[in-house]
Amino acid sequence: MERGEFLLKNYGRFEESFSYGEGSTLYSESGNDYIDFTSGIGVSSVGHGSKELISAISEQVSKVIHVSNLYNIKPQEDLAETISKLAGYDLYSFFANSGAEANEAAIKVARKYGESGEKRRYKIITLDNSFHGRTYGSLSATAQTSLHKSFEPMLDGFNYVSDIHDIESAIDDETVAVMLELVKGEGGVKALPKEAVQHLAEELKKRDILLIVDEVQTGVYRTGEFLASNFYDIQPDIITLAKGLAGGVPIGVMATSLKDGFSSGDHGSTFGGNYLSTASALKVLEILENEHNSGDLKRRVQYFDSKLLELLSDFPQLFTETTGVGLMRGLKVNSDIDVIEIVKSGNRERVLTLKSGNNTLRLLPPLNISTEEIDIGFQRLRQGCQNLL
Ligand SMILES: Cc1ncc(COP(=O)(O)O)c(C=O)c1O
Repeated sequence: MERGEFLLKNYGRFEESFSYGEGSTLYSESGNDYIDFTSGIGVSSVGHGSKELISAISEQVSKVIHVSNLYNIKPQEDLAETISKLAGYDLYSFFANSGAEANEAAIKVARKYGESGEKRRYKIITLDNSFHGRTYGSLSATAQTSLHKSFEPMLDGFNYVSDIHDIESAIDDETVAVMLELVKGEGGVKALPKEAVQHLAEELKKRDILLIVDEVQTGVYRTGEFLASNFYDIQPDIITLAKGLAGGVPIGVMATSLKDGFSSGDHGSTFGGNYLSTASALKVLEILENEHNSGDLKRRVQYFDSKLLELLSDFPQLFTETTGVGLMRGLKVNSDIDVIEIVKSGNRERVLTLKSGNNTLRLLPPLNISTEEIDIGFQRLRQGCQNLL
């Protein structure tokens, strides 16, 4: 029988399969060690097998895993307060289970906000090559029409523009929000220019148009700061988080400065913000805040960057530039080379990497990866590259 015979074939999977992990190393079913430069696509932010996270989760699970949102949930309240504190301004949170759901909530808050003026506003502008999720609202916001194919019609009310500088001219009297990734995760690990982002944020404020920043991949210290928005020195009206927030336990958050963004009954989730996910997220944030405040995260970012630059200069046949911020990094690949061949060659050398966009090798290591694991990972990646020449 073929492996996974009873699974739908919506994923293209590599051969590897893992049975456990320690730090930034995963062990395959056959016992081989792999350096993880993927974090499960930005999820395992504190690595695998973290004793601190395991004991926080175990303690919570032994008390209560879930009650519904009909009741007060202490770690959910604490997590909302922590998110606001770390972001540096007042944010009010709604909890969901994934990035797509967090973005659905953001779209709903924006549309509700659009009811307030004389003319109803509901349109949201997003950028080409963005990725906001696979549910209908978040997929409609995702300006990659190849992903819409077979599933149309999309939800009405999204305008796609190709460049941040084109956003202002695309605004009309029905526009209620602009939704952005500051560093495009799936669209080539490209960071938007800081000045243009700051100018846009100011302009939108003047025109009473909401700025939604999708921090699903960039948030939770991935860029070296709690939010990429902190790195860009902006305070969006709405941010969304998911992926790395609870270290692998599913969670999504839509956090907004609009205190009355939702009223009772406007929105909800059965699982969203339950004891398990929010207790887990509180521990992840405690670990990562320490990493950030001690300067360890910054040193790790610098070291990783130096290794990336070495690889770039040693393999000009393969790579043209480094991209991204913090520990969300890319190596742009020469146009005649298939990125997946580099990923596969790395896999054979026991280092896990990702593809982003058409031509970028993406690296998203756990945020607490050790220097030794960085060294081993790059040695293996170097060998993987060498094998292709
Ligand atoms: C920027 C961004 N937004 C939204 C999503 C969707 O998140 P999820 O897969 O948790 O629904 C992703 C996932 O890759 C993402 O990178």
